[in-house]
Amino acid sequence: MPVPNFIIIAIDGGAASGKSSSSKILAERFNLLHVDTGSFYRHITCELLRRGVPHTDLTALKAALADLRFDTRLNGRSAQMLIGGQPASSEIRGQSVNDHVSHYAAIPEVRHTLLGYQRGQVEVARAHGFRGLVMEGRDIGSVIFPRAEFRFFLNADPAERARRRAKEGGQDSISERDRLDSSRKASPLTCPAGAIEIDSTSLTLDQVVEQMTSVVATRLAMS
Ligand code: CDP
Ligand code: CDP
Repeated sequence: MPVPNFIIIAIDGGAASGKSSSSKILAERFNLLHVDTGSFYRHITCELLRRGVPHTDLTALKAALADLRFDTRLNGRSAQMLIGGQPASSEIRGQSVNDHVSHYAAIPEVRHTLLGYQRGQVEVARAHGFRGLVMEGRDIGSVIFPRAEFRFFLNADPAERARRRAKEGGQDSISERDRLDSSRKASPLTCPAGAIEIDSTSLTLDQVVEQMTSVVATRLAMS
């Protein structure tokens, strides 16, 4: 199949599997908009916690979701989500959000709220003259862009991923998030059929990016 002018690269995987680091490098290499959907779920979580809306109260949750207004602005090559005109604060990487985000992300209404916004990043990328976008998350290749030109699924041993996250500092029970993300009914974390799986347990970030780059560059050169 010929590759269209505008390309989409989907990167999924568990926590600290290398999604953000690799997608930022691919964005530079191929002139793509970088979209970190985990930061969107984190921002929504932060906002719902600030409003005191528990993930267990569906009625309050629906009312709060209906009240949120989303916009996008660029931070370099990355799409930054604004809620009510405000960008996310550093709190989105804090322990409270780490502890709650997978609970909110498991709720279909929350996922539905973000679905159109995430797909709308194609227009943002086009409007800013990018050659395409690279979007990272848990369900990009399975639900958001199942027909993306390139779909990667990153994996790594849980112990290695915990070591990577610990090295970055902060408190994050990534195995618990992985468990919740993989076992939920709505858009679970899974390697979709046809995606290219890369196990990075014993690979450096450079080696992972080289594998991805080679797949993308080879197909682009053929078209
Ligand atoms: O950086 P890390 O891989 O640890 O997490 P993240 O990508 O920032 O995502 C935070 C959380 O958001 C995940 O644990 C999921 O619960 C949720 N998420 C999701 O459900 N679907 C996505 N497409 C992206 C994130
Ligand atoms: O976005 P995600 O949570 O999947 O992972 P990340 O933030 O890109 O990577 C987590 C940490 O692991 C970063 O400090 C990366 O530099 C590091 N990493 C690594 O040491 N080896 C790899 N093959 C991939 C990532």
